[in-house]
Amino acid sequence: MLKDRKILLGVTGSIAAYKSVDLARRLMDEGASVSVVMTEAACRFITPYLFEAVTGNPVRTDLFADPYSHIELSKQSDLFIIAPATANTINKLSCGIADNLLTNLWLTYEGPALVAPAMNFRMYRSPSVKKHLKELKKNGVHFVGPGSGSLACGEEGPGRMEDIPVIVESCTYVLSEKDLAGMNILVTAGPTREPIDPVRFISNRSSGKMGYAIARSAVRRGAEVTLVSGPVNLVPPERVSLLSAETAAEMEAAVLKSLPKADCVIMAAAVADFTPREKSKVKHSKGSITALDLSQNNDILKKISKKKGDRLHIGFAAETGKDIKKAEAKLKEKKLDLIVLNDVQQEGAGFDVDTNIVTLIDSNNTITEYPLLSKDKVADIIFHKIRELKK
Ligand code: CTP
Repeated sequence: MLKDRKILLGVTGSIAAYKSVDLARRLMDEGASVSVVMTEAACRFITPYLFEAVTGNPVRTDLFADPYSHIELSKQSDLFIIAPATANTINKLSCGIADNLLTNLWLTYEGPALVAPAMNFRMYRSPSVKKHLKELKKNGVHFVGPGSGSLACGEEGPGRMEDIPVIVESCTYVLSEKDLAGMNILVTAGPTREPIDPVRFISNRSSGKMGYAIARSAVRRGAEVTLVSGPVNLVPPERVSLLSAETAAEMEAAVLKSLPKADCVIMAAAVADFTPREKSKVKHSKGSITALDLSQNNDILKKISKKKGDRLHIGFAAETGKDIKKAEAKLKEKKLDLIVLNDVQQEGAGFDVDTNIVTLIDSNNTITEYPLLSKDKVADIIFHKIRELKK
């Protein structure tokens, strides 16, 4: 997502400066080129040489080393991120004080900017920091964190620099085109669990990765996103409204609750079709049951198709075998605008992997087949199609 983007990374004098080395690496892993500028205080914590070795680019620290570096570097950059940003630097940025190379660059820079504060929680809640954070936000500066937890000084509270994957995701968010701005998208993800007794359930192998990738992509593109998630082992994307659901009935209730404001529903969840008719309050002992009496769950997509209006409905069909006819039948039966078919038996298209091989079938009967792609890329393809369908 950050391929060929030029990122200017400002590092200020906080203990969290050591984490910025990893940040530089992770940004480069995503394809970005990283140039580092450090304040004098940052150089007391960590040496420029380390950043130079990691990024392969010269590290700037001195305003007077080159007469024009405070202009040239900012003109060349797609994103200016300051991580960690101390209370002192935040206050200076807000007031326009330019007393070192980093703060000079801030004044000459005209592109998107992201700040990751790091400080003791007493500094963070001080009136001056609060005031200047507010002022910077008002001026369109993006913020990530700070996180809460144990601080380097041994105290607890808000002030830790946000975790590196979250900062990297924020960089992607800031740099992504907001082509879904104004849309409200409801995404479901993961399996459901249908209880047999307090310790056992019926479920399926869905990991939720596809649905989470869709929610992440929708957020990056500027949509307002509600994610209804079954039980999964994934960190929810930043900026989504998360509703957790365990059973198909809970998922149905969560979908119905969020439906009135949604203009697009993407059902990536693997909703269990059946549930035990009786859910025992006590654990069944060995041999006490030999069969399960099942009742059919409501089909959520079918149910909400009755009052669909202009809302777009996207379904998934995870099949054993590339069964286009079956997917087409589901598209018709559930009155979908689009169905995403994948053959779970194909290598790289099954459960719990980061890739998928999909075929998109829309309501105009256009069938498009795609090769093995990352689930992030599949999410982008789906949104490309959604934008086409909306025209
Ligand atoms: N779906 C749903 N409610 C259900 C079951 C499925 O909304 N109770 C949705 C899924 O989220 C998916 C689509 O319907 O987007 C197709 O689900 P799938 O399990 O492939 O199909 P089913 O209709 O359940 O048919 P079958 O299991 O017989 O293939």
